[in-house]
Parts: sequence; C-alpha cells; structure tokens
Amino acid sequence: MFESIFKRGVLSNSTTTQTPDLTVDVHAHLLPQLDDGPVDIEQSIEIIKEMYQIGYRKIIVTPHVMTGYYNNAYEDILQSLHILRSVLKRRNIAMELEAAAEYYLEDELFRLIERKEVLTFGGNRKYLLFEASFVTKASYILEAALRIKQAGYTPVLAHPERYVNLNDIEAINRLAYNGVLFQINIGSLTGYYSKQAQELAELLINRKLVAFLGSDCHSLTQLESIKQAFKLKIFKEATKLDILNNTLLENKSTVYA
Ligand SMILES: [Fe+2]
Repeated sequence: MFESIFKRGVLSNSTTTQTPDLTVDVHAHLLPQLDDGPVDIEQSIEIIKEMYQIGYRKIIVTPHVMTGYYNNAYEDILQSLHILRSVLKRRNIAMELEAAAEYYLEDELFRLIERKEVLTFGGNRKYLLFEASFVTKASYILEAALRIKQAGYTPVLAHPERYVNLNDIEAINRLAYNGVLFQINIGSLTGYYSKQAQELAELLINRKLVAFLGSDCHSLTQLESIKQAFKLKIFKEATKLDILNNTLLENKSTVYA
C-alpha cells in the first residue's frame, strides 16, 4: 500500500497523518554517507518516505560535524542536500528539506563560527544546533553557549536529557536563563536511550523548557521508537507547549525551497 501511494505520484495532504501537531523536524541524520546515518541514498529516501507518512512535511537535516570523525565541511553538506533534494523531486516526494548540522562542542566549532562556515536554521534567528560529550560539565556547556550567543547565533542544545551533568534542575535553569534553547529527542520519551534521559525529558516538558522536538533519526529502525512516542500522553503535552518546530514551515504548500 505504501509503495502504491508513491507510484501514484506526489503524496497529498490527505494521506495518513499521525502527527498533525508536528510537521517540522529539526534534528535528523538523513544525508547519506556523511555520518552514522544512512549508508546510501536509497536508505535516506526510505526514511524520508516514512517520515512523510507519519506527518512530517519539512526536515532540517543535521549531519554530525566533529573533527576526526565527521569532517563535514558546509560545502559538502550543501552538495549532499542538493543531490538528495533532486532525487526527491524526481520521485515526486513532497518533503521539504533544509540543511544545518549538529556541531560537536570543540575548538574547531569556534573556528568555523569565526570563518562564518556554520550552517544554522530558522532564518534570522540563526539557531545553531550543538552537542557535547555526554559527561561534559554543565559550566562548560554554558560557557560555550555564551560564546555562540556572542557570535550572533542562538544556541540550541541537542538532547539535553542525555547529559549526565544536566540531571539537575539548577543547571538546566542556568542554561535556560542564559538563552540556551533545548531540543529534546522524541525517542527519549519511550526510554529509548535510558531511564534517566526519559525522566529528564519529561521534566523539561513539565517545566515548559522545551523549544524544539527532534527525531535525531539515523535509521528506519530508530523511527519505530519515535512512532511509539507519538502515542504517549507526554508527547501530546509536549506538542501543546510553545515549541518552535512549526514556525519553521514558512509556506505549507512549498514543496522545494
Ligand atoms: Fe544527532
């Protein structure tokens, strides 16, 4: 049935939508061969087709950028985006794609910022998605976030619920007071990563401290936990918060930006 829908051409808005409240994803590893996401473009397409089926209409793809592991220059990311968009267009898959990145917190990030070689999202808001080692001290994350802000970007911390040193509401509040936006992983709500991550994600939702919901999707398998999370009450509560995801869908009828 899934294939037959695609054979008819462009998926219309009348197809099954399970997440009407969440149409934009801001964290996904879907560009092939750039990181630990899809190994080829066919895998990318399969995931994107499934994400369309569950209600997404726009995905901001965010490959890892991390020296020595994922040396993705912004030109390479944009080139990969261009190729993937072209294939989607040829196959009449109406998912809008944009590219940013998930920057690892390291000195190189600040060199890239200085050279204006970072990919951000949200137009003038210049949301810069970053992550750190899961055992990083909260004070180091705060210091880095302030440097990102000083450079004119809005720091968005990827999956704060996964950092061991942020399991402390005071540390979380300190980051929030200093303008750090939090992007939680939808899969965390099912306990996909750990019990602690699940509890912290729930706390962030209950305290209304979530700015973005992200899939952090790397594979079709991982998408299953996200689909499970969509059924949870806590997920529905999260979508009722003042989350910024859907503000990024500038034109709902736009197929290709
Ligand atoms: Fe990620």
